[in-house]
Amino acid sequence: MEVIIKQNAEAGSHAAAAAVARLIREQPDAVLGLATGSTPLILYKELIRMHREEGLDFSRVTTFNLDEYVGLPAGHEQSYHRFMQENFFCHINIKPENVHIPDGMTTDVPAFCADYEQAIAEAGGIDLQVLGIGSDGHVGFNEPTSSFASRTRIKTLTRQTVADNARFFNGDESKVPHHCITMGIGTIMDARMVLMLAFGGNKAEAVAAMVEGPVAAVMPASILQHHPCAKVFVDEPAAERLKLADYYRWIYDNKPGWQKDC
Ligand code: GLP
Repeated sequence: MEVIIKQNAEAGSHAAAAAVARLIREQPDAVLGLATGSTPLILYKELIRMHREEGLDFSRVTTFNLDEYVGLPAGHEQSYHRFMQENFFCHINIKPENVHIPDGMTTDVPAFCADYEQAIAEAGGIDLQVLGIGSDGHVGFNEPTSSFASRTRIKTLTRQTVADNARFFNGDESKVPHHCITMGIGTIMDARMVLMLAFGGNKAEAVAAMVEGPVAAVMPASILQHHPCAKVFVDEPAAERLKLADYYRWIYDNKPGWQKDC
C-alpha cells in the first residue's frame, strides 16, 4: 500500500485524478471501476475539467460502478445511476453503452450479478478501481464480515451505513434502502490498480485500521494490504490516526522521479 498524505481533499483528489488521466492517456480503452458517495466528487470535477480544458478523451473508456441500492429506479434522485449521470457522465464524452451500473430494479438478482461479473471479465477486467471507505470500513457496500472472496451480489446494509447515508435522503433513515447490489471484495481485488480516497476526520479511525490494523473481514478495506498496487489518498485530518504518517510522507517526498505518477 502506498499512502499519499495531502494537505486537503482537493490536493488528494487532484493527485488521484492525475493517476486516472495518466492511465487513460496511456491506454485510451481503459476499464475504470467507479465509486459514489461524497468522497470522489472533487476527483470527478477534476476529470471533467481535464476533459474540457485538456482534451482528456473518454470515448473509448468503459466503466463499471461498484454498487446500487436495491429498489431504486435509475431515475430516482438518490440512485447511484442518477448520481453518476449528474456528477460525471453527462459532462464527459463517454459512450452510454460503455457505462455499467448495477440495476437496483432487477427481478433476478443472482442472474444479474453473474452477468455483471461476466461483463467485467469480457471487458478485460478493471484496470483502475476508485474506492471510498465507509466509516465502518466498508468498500463498495461490502459491510464488515463480507467474505474476502465475494463477488457481485446482494448485501444488507448495516445500521451504521443506513444512518450515515440518511444525509442523502433528507436525514430520513426510513427512506434509505436496506439492500444493495455491490461488487464483491474479490471483484475489487482483481482490479489491476486501486485508488482509495478518504478525507476528513470522521474517516481517520477507519483509515488507520485499513492501513495499519490486522487484515480482517470485520474491517473489509484492510484487504487492500494484500493488493499489489493500492494507493491511498488521504488529507491531513484523515491521516491523523496513522502511526507511521511521517514515514509515508518521507517515502512520498523521496520517490524517484520515474515513479512519480501522482
Ligand atoms: C457509500 C458507498 C461507498 C462509499 C462510502 C463512503 O455507502 N457505497 O462506495 O465509499 O459509502 O461514502 P462517502 O464518500 O460519502 O463518505
